[in-house]
Amino acid sequence: MVKKAILPAAGLGTRFLPATKASPKEMLPIVDKPMIQYAVEEAISCGIEDFIVITGKNKRAIEDHFDSAYELEEKLRSSGKKKLLDEINKLSHANFAYIRQRVAMGLGHAILCAKPFVRDEPFAVILSDDIIDPDYHLLKEMIRVYNEVDCPVIALEEVPKTEVFKYGIIDGAKEGDIFKIRNLVEKPKPEEAPSNLAIIGRYILTPDLFRILEKQKAGAGGEIQLTDALKELLKKRTIYGYLIKGRRYDAGDKLGFLKATIDLGLKNPEVSEGLRDYIKEVSARIKSADAGRKR
Ligand code: G1P
Repeated sequence: MVKKAILPAAGLGTRFLPATKASPKEMLPIVDKPMIQYAVEEAISCGIEDFIVITGKNKRAIEDHFDSAYELEEKLRSSGKKKLLDEINKLSHANFAYIRQRVAMGLGHAILCAKPFVRDEPFAVILSDDIIDPDYHLLKEMIRVYNEVDCPVIALEEVPKTEVFKYGIIDGAKEGDIFKIRNLVEKPKPEEAPSNLAIIGRYILTPDLFRILEKQKAGAGGEIQLTDALKELLKKRTIYGYLIKGRRYDAGDKLGFLKATIDLGLKNPEVSEGLRDYIKEVSARIKSADAGRKR
């Protein structure tokens, strides 16, 4: 049973400066919810209720967000705003623990920080800047695969060859709808990538990984990489990759963030109609500007 999730949230978010100068990247809203809440809701829909958030400096807003807000709740209650009250309370049954990663030593190191809270159980790792379409239940499918194979499972997506340098890339043998992983490389150059199958930010992992992370040396970018630790784990046990079948947005990137905002806005009943009309208007404007340029 996977009951815990680690949410690494210690990164500096430099790609979103100046927005992330004093507030966490994970709190940037997509439509009306901070990015990290999408990750939490995704996990809750799989029965996960314990969250270990790995934070760093300037991340206090994350703790406040998942805490109760007495004055606000009272105000909403007394003014009869029940829908909003339910909305801000809907995650109140989940448990959150926060650990500060004192030094920015990479994703592998961030996960190692959660060891005392995870102990001897399998766990999910969710990178909240990879937003998965909330109507597509990727994590649920990965947990189903994990329960069948009893081995770590990591999410994969095919990416253009020119973008492999942004990801962990695997080499693997296809077995039905999963891949038996043969090798993993963190952020390879295009000519050195073993494939175009990229690791995306959803993992179901097993606690034996911690023993490896404890000894893991710095890799790409001088950081302790999760991908390198998984490569080490591969010497001891099978690891599977699960090719995603729905939409993923790299919301850690400005363009990906805007795409997520548009698609999730189109799903939001409050704004979908107005947004649809606006997109049509913008697209007509772009078409006419393009036609003008060609003339
Ligand atoms: C991390 C991992 C990388 C993975 C990526 C997915 O990289 O190290 O293997 O492909 O997440 O989003 P980051 O994006 O933190 O540089």
